[in-house]
Amino acid sequence: EQKRHFSINLLEWYDKHKRDLPWRRHRNPYYIWVSEIMLQQTRVDTVIPFFNRFIERFPTVEDLADAPEQDVLKCWEGLGYYSRARNLQAAAKQVKELHGGIVPDDKASVFALKGVGPYTAGAILSIAFNKPEPAVDGNVMRVLSRYFLIEEDIMKGSTRAFMESLVVELIPDGRASDFNQALMELGALVCTPKSPHCLTCPVMEHCSARQEGKEEQLPIKTKA
Ligand code: ADE
Repeated sequence: EQKRHFSINLLEWYDKHKRDLPWRRHRNPYYIWVSEIMLQQTRVDTVIPFFNRFIERFPTVEDLADAPEQDVLKCWEGLGYYSRARNLQAAAKQVKELHGGIVPDDKASVFALKGVGPYTAGAILSIAFNKPEPAVDGNVMRVLSRYFLIEEDIMKGSTRAFMESLVVELIPDGRASDFNQALMELGALVCTPKSPHCLTCPVMEHCSARQEGKEEQLPIKTKA
């Protein structure tokens, strides 16, 4: 019942309150992929203008694959972590050569892309292809640890694995794309690291951390 309440109310809130972000305007797997790589170490507000410029300069996977590396790095200038740009271009070449320029929608092929780890693979598969795969990042772990009062260290692989299987259980049929984005959105806008905005939270009513007054103490995170 706590789980059902979470999924239903979170989705309903997301449908009403989701931000209009450039990569949400089309369900283009290439756009989703580029946005997720940019968002790995950079905030949404910073990413938006870089994303728009990048897509304008490299509108398709093939444009990115064929571009001189210097052009790609130039377009990334200001975002930092340049290995992300190099890996992204290397992966674009993989997609061009192995998949005819079409971003693959199967787990093995997506995981095989350079620069794509478990989080990004789950984000691409769920957001772009609506597959019921988990996309668990720090924001999502914070939301889940609070709502379900998970007091395990989020740095542990076993905690992440537990949360990934929990997300799979929580995804409503046919709504993987919206549900995973809703989780991220709640973490970004409401269930923030410090002083979470519980009074406007769509799932406060059954939030275990809130009931115990522990929302500010979670998630548990040892070592830096
Ligand atoms: N952070 C990581 N991925 C995101 C997404 N798709 N939308 C908003 N914030 C995000």
